[in-house]
Amino acid sequence: MAQVKINIRDAASRDLPRIFEIERLAFPHPWSLDSFRRELALPFSRILVADADESEGRPLAGFLCRWLVAEECHILNVAVHPSMRRLGIGADLMAEAIAESKAKNIHLITLEVRRSNLAARTLYRKLNFEERRLRRNYYGLGEDAIVMELELKSSQLGRK
Ligand SMILES: CC(C)(COP(=O)(O)OP(=O)(O)OC[C@H]1O[C@@H](n2cnc3c(N)ncnc32)[C@H](O)[C@@H]1OP(=O)(O)O)[C@@H](O)C(=O)NCCC(=O)NCCS
Repeated sequence: MAQVKINIRDAASRDLPRIFEIERLAFPHPWSLDSFRRELALPFSRILVADADESEGRPLAGFLCRWLVAEECHILNVAVHPSMRRLGIGADLMAEAIAESKAKNIHLITLEVRRSNLAARTLYRKLNFEERRLRRNYYGLGEDAIVMELELKSSQLGRK
C-alpha cells in the first residue's frame, strides 16, 4: 500500500493535461495528448489515475492505461510523477489492474518493458510478473523490449 494517502479512480477528460504532463516527464518518446483522448473513447481501454491527498499539492500523481482484449489484460502505460515516486503509487495502480483482472476472470496480464528500465522491471517482478520473451529493437535500434506476464490461477479469480 502506498506511503501516502491515494485514491484510485477512472480518468476523465479534465485529467488529460496532467496525465500528459506526467507522460512527458516519464518517457523520451511520449504518447500525444490525442492518443490519451483516443484511449478514453475506446470501450476496451481504461485509464486509471491515482489522486494523492490534496495536502501533497499535486493531486493527480500517476496513471495506468490497460486494455482488456481477448480475455487478456494488457498494460500499455504506467507512470508516476517524478516528485511522487518510490511511495508505492505505481505498485498500487498495478495492484488495482490485477484486482480488476481477477474480478473479471482474466487469466493473463501482459506488458512490454524496456530492457534498460530497471525500476519498472523491479516493480513488475515484485508483483510476480515473469520475464518471458525478448523483442529485439522493439523501441528502436538497441532498445529491446522484455515481454512480461502474470498468470492468474483459477483459484484467484472471481468465479470458477
Ligand atoms: C516505474 C514507475 C511507474 C514506478 O512507480 P513508483 O510509484 O515510483 O513505484 P513504487 O513506489 O510503487 O515502487 C514499488 C517497487 O518497485 C521497485 N522500484 C520502483 N522504482 C524503482 C527504482 N527506481 N529502482 C529500483 N526499484 C524500483 C521497488 O522494488 C519498489 O519498492 P520499494 O520502494 O519498497 O523498494 C515510475 O518509476 C515511473 O513513472 N517511471 C517512468 C515511466 C516508466 O518507466 N513506466 C513503465 C513503463 S513499462
